[in-house]
Amino acid sequence: MAKMAASVVETGEDAFRKIFKLYKRRSPPPDFNDVIDFSKCVTNDKIFPAKLDSAAVHDSDAAKVGLHPVQDWKAFTLQGYPGFIFITNPFSRGSQPFWVRQCLKTYPQKPNVCNLDMHMSPTDTQDIWTKSVPNLSCPSVGKREPRTLLERLRWVTLGYHYNWNSKTYSANHYTPFPSELHLLSSQIATACGFTGFNAEAGILNYYRSDSSLGIHVDESELDHSRPLLSFSFGQSAIFLLGGTHRQDPPTAMYMHSGDVMIMSGQSRLLYHAVPRIVPANQEVAALEPGQCSWEGGAVVEQVSEEDWTVCSRYIHSSRINMTVRQVLGQGQSFPEIPPLPGHIEEHQEDNTKRKRYSDSPYTEET
Ligand code: OGA
Ligand code: MN
Repeated sequence: MAKMAASVVETGEDAFRKIFKLYKRRSPPPDFNDVIDFSKCVTNDKIFPAKLDSAAVHDSDAAKVGLHPVQDWKAFTLQGYPGFIFITNPFSRGSQPFWVRQCLKTYPQKPNVCNLDMHMSPTDTQDIWTKSVPNLSCPSVGKREPRTLLERLRWVTLGYHYNWNSKTYSANHYTPFPSELHLLSSQIATACGFTGFNAEAGILNYYRSDSSLGIHVDESELDHSRPLLSFSFGQSAIFLLGGTHRQDPPTAMYMHSGDVMIMSGQSRLLYHAVPRIVPANQEVAALEPGQCSWEGGAVVEQVSEEDWTVCSRYIHSSRINMTVRQVLGQGQSFPEIPPLPGHIEEHQEDNTKRKRYSDSPYTEET
């Protein structure tokens, strides 16, 4: 009975799904006039400036991870979404390329997990970057099937590796979380008033121009009092932020390269989705690595011209999103629940959906 109600919600035309479909539509294309563009810097009866704690993050620490001083960030919040904070590109000139390179060259490497591991051997997915670079080096002409592993990359998980089947994290599926991304995340969380944020899990999503991400809530983390951070690079996207029910109509906003979004407090468990990737503005085409001007102790490194050629070609048509999560509260640990006979059936049922979910989370709403 409970099951049937759930499937009605999944297939029915709730308000969120209607708007999701509207923004996903190709022909005729939707009207984008109602999409909020925080980069246009307007505040009105719905968009307010968000207060940040600029004294809590030293300018020199921000610079180490490639961020402008917090006092220069432009941060916004939305009427009706307490705890939601949108920071328009706080990255200093020349530092986005480092994070893009981490997402394309470093983070897909073992021991991190990616979608390609689901149907390929670890040796085949060992060095996606090196294997892809020779074939990526010619710009693609028109639409063709993605040939290289890099073009077939859909997601990477970091830290506590998210299990797409069981929708859980677990103590025994953990590899060290990248320290530089931990540092970047904790500084942003601190500026937003969340001291002691511990980046424990990351989900990186890789979008082609025709990709979308289905309607969902991120509730697998065990401590929902901790914020969820989201970083966007490359092509732009339309992000839909809804309510606690699928019947609540969502608000549409653009996410551009460098933008950071924080879902916390009452906005931590809201429905959201990415119905559409949209062409980026000129700034993305103009991105280039900085000239080693970072101070001592920097974690942001110079990206070689060779690496940047590949990265810039990739983000010319694709979008990368990193979400960073704290899974456990302070002093909390994963519950040790011995599997009960009744649970086995449920687990097997989930496994029948394995291929679909482990391949890609993008097909849910299509
Ligand atoms: C997610 C997510 C949004 C995005 O990974 O949970 O909601 O902008 N990503 O890609
Ligand atoms: Mn999400």
